[in-house]
Amino acid sequence: MPAVIPLVDLKAQYHGLRAEIKEAIDRVLERGDFILGEELSLFESEFADFCGTEYAIGCGSGTDALHLACRALGIGPEDQVIMPAFTFVATALGVSLSGAKPVLVDVDPQSALIDLDQIERAITSKTRAIIPVHLYGQCVDMAPLIELAREHGLYIIEDAAQAHGAEYRGKRVGSLGDIGCFSFYPGKNLGAYGDGGMITVDKEGVADKLCLLRNWGSHQKYHHEEPGLNSRLDTIQAAILRVKLQYLEKWNNSRKKLAFQYTAILKEINGIQLTENGGDSVYHLYVIRLADRDLMLNKLRDAGIQAGIHYPFAVHELNAYKWMGYSPGAFPVAESWARQCLSLPIYAEMPEEVSSTTAEILKQVMHN
Ligand SMILES: Cc1ncc(COP(=O)(O)O)c(C=O)c1O
Repeated sequence: MPAVIPLVDLKAQYHGLRAEIKEAIDRVLERGDFILGEELSLFESEFADFCGTEYAIGCGSGTDALHLACRALGIGPEDQVIMPAFTFVATALGVSLSGAKPVLVDVDPQSALIDLDQIERAITSKTRAIIPVHLYGQCVDMAPLIELAREHGLYIIEDAAQAHGAEYRGKRVGSLGDIGCFSFYPGKNLGAYGDGGMITVDKEGVADKLCLLRNWGSHQKYHHEEPGLNSRLDTIQAAILRVKLQYLEKWNNSRKKLAFQYTAILKEINGIQLTENGGDSVYHLYVIRLADRDLMLNKLRDAGIQAGIHYPFAVHELNAYKWMGYSPGAFPVAESWARQCLSLPIYAEMPEEVSSTTAEILKQVMHN
């Protein structure tokens, strides 16, 4: 076993793909179509097929994907968008960058996913959409959410930044709501070699609007219909992601196998709560919950195992979102996840003995 076990090892993946990646980059360099080039169109249609949607539109990041999705659905100032209180800040940023207000709902103690039972009371006359975040690679239970959204005439914007390839009742994330948002940040299950994002959608009109908005608000050079963004997925990144997309299912399967190994040992340990929503997970992260999280984090680090925290603060605790006016204690479950969550190393190429060694260390610390 290596002396230091990283949370994620991007080099290990690259070493298995080196020749294909170099060839893909070279194709773009030779063609010179760096912006909105051929490899991007090909990747967009392959990613749409993978997710089971009509369209996929590449953009600069997962944050931009969420922002663009709100704008393309006509969401803006005066509107409200419901989202979980426990997620990466980008979910809130996507909403607030569009001018709308994020409205938070607490999360489930077992899964850290949005608590479906608390959504309805957060709906007001200004609510336009709900964002389920498929956190850690799990998939939100979408059927009741879709029913609620339809009842109230609300859009569903999936934040699938951590769940490429996760399935719900035979359909993949990104195809379950009105619009799906993905990140290709390097450490994601499908990661670029830089920033990147994608938006999946079935409606042609929305896809068209997204293409306009990501390209300074123009379809035709120098004809700007509205103030858009400069947020395209680079052709080089698209070429790299085309190579990687072919391996995604295999990688997700090895993440699942490693996760099952963790679970087999950890489920026996008193004081450790596993993250579980009863559905499919592609284990972007393997997260446990325990009371003395910081002590365990240090013990693992002393043993050369780089565990992480996703995330140390709930959204309303961040300085950037104090203006929303929520007081401490407003979302007690989200706040306790922030104090107690611990992410253990997981990546597709991780040697199998890492999960058993890590789990055994956890066991010893808990017993002492
Ligand atoms: C849940 C979630 N949403 C959105 C994002 C934003 O993606 P990006 O980093 O590509 O902007 C991330 C990325 O880390 C994320 O984890």
